[in-house]
Amino acid sequence: MIYSEKVMDHFAHPRNVGEIEDADGVGEVGNAKCGDIMKMYIKVNDGVITDVKFKTFGCGAAVATSSIATEMIKGKKLEDALKLTNKAVVEALDGLPPAKLHCSVLAEEAMKAAVSDYYKRQGIDPTPFVGKQ
Ligand code: FES
Ligand code: FES
Repeated sequence: MIYSEKVMDHFAHPRNVGEIEDADGVGEVGNAKCGDIMKMYIKVNDGVITDVKFKTFGCGAAVATSSIATEMIKGKKLEDALKLTNKAVVEALDGLPPAKLHCSVLAEEAMKAAVSDYYKRQGIDPTPFVGKQ
């Protein structure tokens, strides 16, 4: 078995797929390695991510990592969500095959882009929080 049960579960039943029409932040990123793209939408209330959804033209590993990543950041404060790394996401899935590790970067980057967009919409420079985008 190349993929863990958790990966298979999140691939077969991805959580939080879709879009949020009145999102407070939207991030879209492309994977330099494979050309796949990911879009993430967040709702923010009082500095907390109250809802998150994603859409991807990515592979199964991208779907699984984004699915679990949305579960990991929902209900979190923005600053805590920003601490999420693709490594933590991969660990939460009990690992990914080495050739598929780059796929997990999409979720982390899309989330950071969505938070960055949120800050910009608030008139706040996101660089101190998110780094250069
Ligand atoms: Fe996109 Fe992997 S290259 S599915
Ligand atoms: Fe492109 Fe997985 S191969 S995101």
